[in-house]
Amino acid sequence: MRSSRRLDLVPPYLFAELERKVAAKRASGIDVISLGIGDPDMPTYEPIVAAAQRAVADPSTHRYPSNRGRQDFREAVAAFYRRRFGVELDPDTEVMPAIGAKECIFNLNLAFLDPGDVALAADPGYPVYTGGPLLAGAEPVLMALEPERGFAPALEEIPAEALERARLLFLNYPNNPTGAIAPDGLFEQVVAMATEHDLLAVHDNAYSEITFDGYVAPSFLQTPGAKEVGVEVFSLSKGYNMTGWRCAAIVGNAEAIAHYWRLKSNIDSGLFEAVQLAGVTALGPGLDVHVRGMNEIYARRRDLVCDALAQAGVDVTPPKATIYVWAPVPPGFESAAAYCEHVLERAAVVITPGGAYGPNGEGFFRISLTAPEDRLLEAVERLRSL
Ligand SMILES: Cc1ncc(COP(=O)(O)O)c(C=O)c1O
Repeated sequence: MRSSRRLDLVPPYLFAELERKVAAKRASGIDVISLGIGDPDMPTYEPIVAAAQRAVADPSTHRYPSNRGRQDFREAVAAFYRRRFGVELDPDTEVMPAIGAKECIFNLNLAFLDPGDVALAADPGYPVYTGGPLLAGAEPVLMALEPERGFAPALEEIPAEALERARLLFLNYPNNPTGAIAPDGLFEQVVAMATEHDLLAVHDNAYSEITFDGYVAPSFLQTPGAKEVGVEVFSLSKGYNMTGWRCAAIVGNAEAIAHYWRLKSNIDSGLFEAVQLAGVTALGPGLDVHVRGMNEIYARRRDLVCDALAQAGVDVTPPKATIYVWAPVPPGFESAAAYCEHVLERAAVVITPGGAYGPNGEGFFRISLTAPEDRLLEAVERLRSL
């Protein structure tokens, strides 16, 4: 059966392929340690689960939600942004729920891009920043994130012709896959560029709540002028161990959010109200203690992995945020993919090749810290003994 030509433009989603391989290995009795996908292994915090249980039992949540979202959800997001980032949001026009950040980022491409338009995407970067524009019939133009610049994109190297056609710019700090934090001055530079070239800056804020060593991640919207040119996509997936719930919000520029709403009302029917009510509990101040506890666990895991890699002679910078360690591929492998394939076949450990996040990720691999300490140690031990 023939699929659309549009679909042929994107490769199969990396983790869909990996899931298949891992399932086959496990079925044949192999003990696979999966440090591939960034899917937290810890459960959703108990108060969130309890709130959801109450909400699911309430028949008033069972009908079609509105795409605009519940008033209390939008107010909870606005209150969180005020408390956490000092950012003021109008809950009526500057906040809307999304069915996960992935949905939101993808749909922004459909809402803002026409054929011939460009989306500027970080390289390496979350795959939807490139798959989204392609599926929308537009063109992703890559901005290299260089380690020497703190993984800031080289904005001044974007070709003038691409900048002319650009309608969207995707940014993400704390960053997947590199674990980098927002470089000083970058957000200000992006606001200036977006203003000058009339493009929408989309900051993917999936990891702001997972930080270590006293680092506190900012919101892009704290930058003066950001709300005039940008939106931020805030996901509850990672910070609250809610990847399966599909709960996120888009915040910022009201006009952009209105376009997103118009698109979505033609595509989906909103976020289950019981999930929105779970989100209200998640974003309340009472949950901060749980987030701190989670960060302590990730920090210990990070130290353990980075120390073990350093002892094995791998040059790795411990990240100040996210659930990822980004490390160079050992010499002797023709590509990161070849190394990761070797590791899966010989050590039964799943790690992801940097090249899957863009050509500039080549030469690196990503370890996800989403396994208990004993499994992480075992995984690093297996890598070392290869
Ligand atoms: C940078 C980034 N954005 C978005 C997502 C997806 O978030 P969600 O679960 O809210 O769709 C991920 C998940 O790995 C991510 O790494």
